[in-house]
Amino acid sequence: MTRHFLTGAELTAMELDALLERAMELKAAPRSSHALAGRSVALIFQKPSTRTRLSFEVGIHELGGHPVVLRAEELQLSRGEALRDTALVLSRHVAAVGVRTGPHETLEELSQHSSIPVINMLTALHHPCQALADLLTLREAYGSLEGVRVAYVGDGNNVARSLAVLGTLAGMDVAVASPPGYALEEDLALGAGASGTLTLHTDPREAVAGASAVYTDVWVSMGDETTAAERRSALAPYKLDDALLDAAAPGAFAMHDLPAHPGEEISAEVLYGSRQRIWDQAENRRHAQKALLELLVAPA
Ligand code: CP
Repeated sequence: MTRHFLTGAELTAMELDALLERAMELKAAPRSSHALAGRSVALIFQKPSTRTRLSFEVGIHELGGHPVVLRAEELQLSRGEALRDTALVLSRHVAAVGVRTGPHETLEELSQHSSIPVINMLTALHHPCQALADLLTLREAYGSLEGVRVAYVGDGNNVARSLAVLGTLAGMDVAVASPPGYALEEDLALGAGASGTLTLHTDPREAVAGASAVYTDVWVSMGDETTAAERRSALAPYKLDDALLDAAAPGAFAMHDLPAHPGEEISAEVLYGSRQRIWDQAENRRHAQKALLELLVAPA
């Protein structure tokens, strides 16, 4: 049975734990696995990317495979070819496909017609590969994730949603603080084996109280440009700076999935200072995704 990775809820808690453990092994020995030797993986980008493209392309190469990067305008999809037909052709050539697109439904439709794993490289709703790297970063810092509290402050977007889905699956207590109109949905579907908690707040200081890490993301994501001014105004009280970190648990560090806008959602002092693990997060994308590819791609 083909396994896809669309939201992260496809994993069991045990699989997630093993994946993070494997990612740590691969980080320690980046060229130790040849799981994709002789195989190719397609990477379809319908939106810009720096970290996702770099980490997948280099990671597939390190696993002995060949990444095939396809930009949207190069595909017949852009001229109206059906997602179904694209999926059927991809399935005849490559071992897996990663997709970065806007509508989550596009990813779901592609997966319904794919006999190879489909991996979500970001949709408007979910960014589960980012969450894997986030959990790897937290695990490096704290070991077991059971009962560790992480606070996310700002826009309740795809990054926050995936942190909630995969963080609770890892047993974490995820606290999300957002202004009215920007909150995550209260009935967000968590993974079947989720043992952690998700709490929604409006007060950022309430969310960060007792948190071992404080996470933020841009206030104007791809596709939100027309509402930029009102977003900046509503989200201004949620800026991640030293004062907010001081309100978290002693030793708490800052997280950000990047790209960042220093001076806006995060202060430059925090982004480039000693109280963050943001650049580790960016590196951990590669190690976590390599472990994911090992899990999803069946041996040849
Ligand atoms: N965090 C992240 O997905 O970065 P890119 O948009 O650069 O891929």
